[in-house]
Amino acid sequence: MFKGKKVMLGVCGGIAAYKAIELLRLMVKAGADVSVVMTASAREFVTPLTFQTLSSNPVHSDLFDLYQEKEIGHISLADGADLFVIAPATANIIGKIAGGIADDLLTTTVMATRAPVLFAPAMNVHMYENPIYRRNEKSLRELGYHFIDPAFGALACGYEGQGKLPDPEAIFTAAQAVLAPQDLAGQKILVTAGPTREELDPVRYLSNYSSGKMGYAIASAAVQRGAEVVLVSGPTFLSAPAGVELVPVVSAEQMRACVLSVLPSATAVVKAAAVADYRPLTVAEQKIKKNDAELTVSLEKNPDILAEVGEKKQGQVVVGFAAETENLLKHASDKLKRKKLDLIVANDITQSGAGFDVDTNIVKLLHADGRVEELPQLSKDEVAHQLLDRVVALLH
Ligand code: CTP
Repeated sequence: MFKGKKVMLGVCGGIAAYKAIELLRLMVKAGADVSVVMTASAREFVTPLTFQTLSSNPVHSDLFDLYQEKEIGHISLADGADLFVIAPATANIIGKIAGGIADDLLTTTVMATRAPVLFAPAMNVHMYENPIYRRNEKSLRELGYHFIDPAFGALACGYEGQGKLPDPEAIFTAAQAVLAPQDLAGQKILVTAGPTREELDPVRYLSNYSSGKMGYAIASAAVQRGAEVVLVSGPTFLSAPAGVELVPVVSAEQMRACVLSVLPSATAVVKAAAVADYRPLTVAEQKIKKNDAELTVSLEKNPDILAEVGEKKQGQVVVGFAAETENLLKHASDKLKRKKLDLIVANDITQSGAGFDVDTNIVKLLHADGRVEELPQLSKDEVAHQLLDRVVALLH
C-alpha cells in the first residue's frame, strides 16, 4: 500500500511525539516517501533532525519559511500528498481543524489537501471525554476524516484511561487501511490460521510449527480492503487484527465445526491453517506415566476441512495453502484438484524466507485454470494483498 506513496506525517506537541519516529520508520520501510511537518510545540518534545534523518526529507514547521520558496510551500506539500497522518494529534489541532482555523503550517496544509487525512489522537482522558472534543471529532468524521481511537492505559499525566497514542504498528495498519482500495466491501471472508492442537492427555498434545502469521496477515488485509472477516484460529501468540471477528479454536474438529457454520454466509474462504491430519485415537484422562517400555500412540484421521468446504461450497471462492518440502507444484496441483479449489498458495518451506514463523514468504499461485504465477520473496502482508487481488478478480 505504501510503495511509492507520498505521505505527510504531522507531529503535534505531546509526550507521545517520540512514537511518531517509529511510525515514520515503518512507513519508510514499507516504501513510502514521507515528509514530516512538526508543530512548534512538537519541536519541544523531539528534534526535527531525527525525523529528517529517518525520512531523508527536510522537516517543515514554519509557514513563512515556505513562502520564500518558488512554489507556495503549504500548497505544494498539500497537493503532493497521497495521505496525511497526524500522530500524535492533540485536542488543540483537532479543534482548530474542525473549526476551520489554519494558523500554522500543519493546519494550513491539512486545510489545503485533497488527500485522505488520518488522525491518531492522544490526550488526557478527561480531555478525550470532553464534549467539545467529542463534537470536533464527530464533525471531522462526518466530513470523511479518518480516526484511530486512542488506546486505554496509564497516561503520561498520571491518569488511567483512554487517551494513549496507539502503538505505531496499529497506526501504520490504520494508515494502510485508508490507502487500501475498498474492493472487498460487501464481501464476507472466512480465514483460518494457525496450527491445531490434538490432545493426547491432560498435559500433552500433537501440533505443528505454524505461527499463524500468514492467516492473520490475510485477515488484516481483507479488513483493510473493506471485507467483513471471520478469523477461525488455532492457538497462536498473535493478537486479533483490528476489525476482525476472531473465533479461537483448539482442535481440527472444533475448527471444522466453526468453518462449516460460517461457510453458508461467506463469499470467500481462505484456509491458511495448518490442520493436524491425525489425532490420538484415545485421549488419556490422566497424565500418561513413563515406564521402561516403548510408547505407541495410535492416531486416527482428522476430517479434511478444506475438502469438505470444496464439496459443500455454493459459489464461494475457495483458496487453500500447500506447505511442502518436496515436489511443490505436483503436490499443490493435486490438492487444488482434489479439494476443488479456485486457487492454491504453494510454498516450499525448506527455502529460507518462506514457511513457518518468519515474516516473509515465497509463494507460487496455482489457479484452477492451470495458470501458475511465481511471486518473489515478499512480506506476509504483501503476499496477503497479492492473494486478495486474485480473490477480488475471482469474486467478480
Ligand atoms: N486442510 C484442512 N484440513 C485438514 C488438512 C488440511 O482443511 N485436515 C487444508 C489446509 O488448511 C490447507 C490445505 O488443506 O489449506 C492443504 O493442507 P496440507 O496440510 O498441505 O495438505 P493435506 O491435505 O493435509 O496433505 P498432506 O498432509 O499429505 O500434504
